Amino acid sequence: FSLRAYNTFGIDIKARLFFEAHNSEDVLEAISQADSLGKHLFVLGGGSNVLLVGDIDALVLKIAIQGIEKTEEDEDTVLLKAGAGVIWQDLVHFSLNMGLSGLENLSLIPGTVGAAPMQNIGAYGVELQSTFDHLEAIEIATKNRKIITKATCAFGYRDSIFKNKWKGRYIITRVAFRLSKKHQPITSYGDIERTLKEMGSLPATPENISRAVIKIRQQKLPDPKKIGNAGSFFKNPSIPLGEFSLLKERFPTIPGFRLGELVKVPAAWLIEQAGWKGKRFGAIGVHEKQPLVLVNYGGGEGSEIVALSEKIQADIREKFGITLEREVNLIGPDEWAKT
Ligand code: EPU
Repeated sequence: FSLRAYNTFGIDIKARLFFEAHNSEDVLEAISQADSLGKHLFVLGGGSNVLLVGDIDALVLKIAIQGIEKTEEDEDTVLLKAGAGVIWQDLVHFSLNMGLSGLENLSLIPGTVGAAPMQNIGAYGVELQSTFDHLEAIEIATKNRKIITKATCAFGYRDSIFKNKWKGRYIITRVAFRLSKKHQPITSYGDIERTLKEMGSLPATPENISRAVIKIRQQKLPDPKKIGNAGSFFKNPSIPLGEFSLLKERFPTIPGFRLGELVKVPAAWLIEQAGWKGKRFGAIGVHEKQPLVLVNYGGGEGSEIVALSEKIQADIREKFGITLEREVNLIGPDEWAKT
């Protein structure tokens, strides 16, 4: 079974065992099957943050749990609960149609609702954690249903407990968001204000912010339906203030965003300065408008993309003394071989 249509990088990797779950009973059934076959489970959402590097021996479980419902409402907020298989943008759209705000800055992020908390998706000054309330999950080892609250998730920049201590432990089935009936626009991220102005000085309503974000993303980021990619391949590194000051002497134009004693440096800037922007190597390359994004023009292999990413990492280390951390998850046979 080819997973090509199930990962936005468009990598043609085979899985022998593939299962689609439409509800939590299906998830329980898949866990039992994997158990009896002695296989690991590899849970797939929208496949927009993975790079498949080899045939998968695990049972691939595609989460297709649908549905969005309002489960609570008070004077100022509404709790919306969505199935893990709902397309993220469909939830954003649904919430805006209900007149709710909180997700507008996260418009058009590829992937599914269930995958969103794993890496605390974020864009244009907002992260998932600002509206996340809780999630429902099934613990693989015990098949117990659990409710996991925000404090437990240990959200950080592109990070959560599900990427670390609890990696591979739970299958997320539903996610609940506390959204606001009163709008507090977040337009501080440079491009939004400028884009609203360009679009005819539009007021910063949730709908307009969403339209602006969609416009910016469409200008900068490659559409995975046309060119294979998984968004940012690396995280933006944070370095100590002292280190940043030294770099600033050598590279006066280096941008940086201060976070206490650390400075976050755009990896895109480092990669562009090092001369990688727009470089193409056969079927793969570095995107021409956003060098943080590695792309597969068609027919590229996961291992080629890994090799390119390692060359970029080594080059950035040599030129700037900064180690770029991967943001995309590598999925290959070694990682999933049952121990
Ligand atoms: N820059 C360059 N050259 C470029 C592009 C950007 O030097 O070609 C520098 C500029 O200094 C620019 C800065 O990078 O001001 C920031 O660029 P941008 O606003 O495009 O954001 P980013 O830091 O490159 C991050 C996220 C994106 C998210 C945007 C907007 C990470 C790893 N990436 O990118 O997330 O959409 O901000 O909030 O944090 C993703 O995670 O897959 C993703 C696309």
